[in-house]
Amino acid sequence: MFSYTLSKRRTRTSKQIVSGNATLRLIDGNRIPLFGLGLYEVDGSSWTTRLVKSAITMGYRLFDTAEVYENEHELGEGIRKSSVAREQVYITSKVYTTEGGRRQVLDCVRQSLMQLMVDYIDLYLIHAPQGGHVLEAYDALHELRNLGRIRSVGVSNFGIPHLEVIRKSGRPLPVVNQIELHPFCQQRPIVSYCRRHGIALMAYSPMARGAALNDPFVLQLARKYRRTPAQILLRWSVQNGFIPIPKTNHPNRLKENFQVFDFRLSANDMRQLTDYGYQQPMVSGWNPVSNTTSQFGAIY
Ligand SMILES: NC(=O)c1ccc[n+]([C@@H]2O[C@H](COP(=O)([O-])OP(=O)(O)OC[C@H]3O[C@@H](n4cnc5c(N)ncnc54)[C@H](OP(=O)(O)O)[C@@H]3O)[C@@H](O)[C@H]2O)c1
Repeated sequence: MFSYTLSKRRTRTSKQIVSGNATLRLIDGNRIPLFGLGLYEVDGSSWTTRLVKSAITMGYRLFDTAEVYENEHELGEGIRKSSVAREQVYITSKVYTTEGGRRQVLDCVRQSLMQLMVDYIDLYLIHAPQGGHVLEAYDALHELRNLGRIRSVGVSNFGIPHLEVIRKSGRPLPVVNQIELHPFCQQRPIVSYCRRHGIALMAYSPMARGAALNDPFVLQLARKYRRTPAQILLRWSVQNGFIPIPKTNHPNRLKENFQVFDFRLSANDMRQLTDYGYQQPMVSGWNPVSNTTSQFGAIY
């Protein structure tokens, strides 16, 4: 499907520079590209369709959308209008709440398939552990996986307590946990938990929604490597073995953001940026990862 493949171990140590089209093997055996385009707050309009088409021309193969982003239709259109077959593109979408349990998930995935106009979705996530019948919803996603309507089941914004509920129930682990990850939001306990259990980490808001781009140390590294601050932050993500999904509305930035596979931050600079960011935590969006009050619903 993709021209480059890497073992998980080599990806994580990232001693080498790889292509943006390289893939990582997930614990369910499916493969996922190492880099993608986030589509939150990208307007559900013909602009989105053109942006997706341009991104595919530049080499992007992974797109992250969601029920609540309201642009699944335009994403599907962009893929159809591009020069590559649907099978060469990896689509991630999400169900926002799980209050309605199984029925809500079945409806939501059916809607996504209709909006995208595709036969299957590569990866479907529970958007956040916001209460409701989370385990029932999780089971419904596996039901859809068995029917071939989705290929992989994952979660987003799940902290260790949430992941432990799944693990202890004996269910298959999610193959991906999509969480906010950048030098200023390292979520170390969740990252080590996921690594220990083979759960791939998809890094959302990898530039802290743009807030990290003017940081003095990031700017200093950008000057040193003759790269842009965005490229430094995205390279940090790639070298950590995360799958960053930066969002941009601008075609020129699409290209800039994707060009992080032709250079490498030295081990020392990686360490310094990691230590520096760790000292000044910044969470740019919501933080449902720490939501310990949400209750997992009944197991049916
Ligand atoms: N699961 C979840 O709960 C969750 C939460 C948040 C995000 N996400 C996913 O993660 C994706 C990315 O996260 P995000 O949108 O929050 O934040 P982000 O990707 O860290 O940052 C996006 C911001 O940076 C700007 N930007 C992008 N590239 C740039 C560049 N090269 N130079 C200067 N500015 C640049 C964008 O502006 P322009 O658009 O104007 O370029 C936008 O304001 C989302 O689109 C979504 O798919 C998931």
